[in-house]
Amino acid sequence: MKKVPLIIDTDPGGDDAIAIMMAKGCGMFDIRAICPVNGNSPLRDTKRNAMDLACYYDIDTRVAVGANQPLYRGLITNSNFKRVAKMLKKDGEDDFQYGGQMFDFAFPAPTKEFDPLPAWDVIYEEAVKAKGELVILAIGPLTNLALALGKYSDLAPLIKEIVVMGGSAYAGNHTPVGEFNVLIDPWAFAMVLKWGIPFKMVGLDATAQAYHTLDELKEMADMDTTIAPMLKTAYDGVVARSNDPNFPPHLKGRTVYHDALAMACLIDPEVCSFRHTRVEVELSSPIAFGQTVVDKRPALTAGEPNCLVAQKVDRERYLEIVLRCLEAFKKEEK
Ligand code: BDR
Ligand code: CA
Repeated sequence: MKKVPLIIDTDPGGDDAIAIMMAKGCGMFDIRAICPVNGNSPLRDTKRNAMDLACYYDIDTRVAVGANQPLYRGLITNSNFKRVAKMLKKDGEDDFQYGGQMFDFAFPAPTKEFDPLPAWDVIYEEAVKAKGELVILAIGPLTNLALALGKYSDLAPLIKEIVVMGGSAYAGNHTPVGEFNVLIDPWAFAMVLKWGIPFKMVGLDATAQAYHTLDELKEMADMDTTIAPMLKTAYDGVVARSNDPNFPPHLKGRTVYHDALAMACLIDPEVCSFRHTRVEVELSSPIAFGQTVVDKRPALTAGEPNCLVAQKVDRERYLEIVLRCLEAFKKEEK
């Protein structure tokens, strides 16, 4: 089967790590580039994490470094995110958890070099090479993509589809309505959406359905794979969190790898249902800043549909996809 040319735009991050594992493990994709961006952690860390993953999974690809801040400085950047989060939290609430570490795992020293070109140039180069077949999995803030589309006005028609982990139709995860990836660079999300490229939004409403229980995480870690040591630390992290009295009950005993569901939607589009509707991003309200406003009304659309929004997830099917991808990392029988 001909492999689909794929670029992974990412801010690794633990759930990015699982998504990238699946991109390699499913065997369906020709991974043309991995493009780290500021997000879960500053670019300094996400670029190192991206390189660590490319080497650990043995992915022969370009690792092209992207943006170190959102499109506009000011309201929320990576470095002041904690401060903004503090401003939003109510007295007596625990501090926001600002993610970042890619599990508690020491990756072997990388064996590759970063690509000499920046992410936006590599995205364009690969889109031209792929002649309209390029698919993009975007699992971090959309800054790199917005920059690529802004720099190269002929890029949009060369991209076949963008599948994004981001946004939410109901609640947020870092503010009442703000999902992290969109909140970090809502301008980029809004700009990318405006280009009219086929766009799938896999938001929090969908990813919350694709959880892994402790037993399911253990099953992944116990498989005899080359990446079991990393998966073991992922499992240990969720166990530790589950035993930590400071963690809210709904985060105990299970985890969600948000980005992995977006990847699963590319591997098997039937894993989740989608609704074609209008999505806009709130860019001015101090309360709803970064909200993806999804038109949920059946007939009264607020404009032409511009997005396929993920709805109902088949969790069993999702878990099977993850396990199938892991099979590719099984140690060879001697
Ligand atoms: C998203 O934010 C990041 O922390 C995760 O990697 C995921 O892409 C979930 O809101
Ligand atoms: Ca991510």
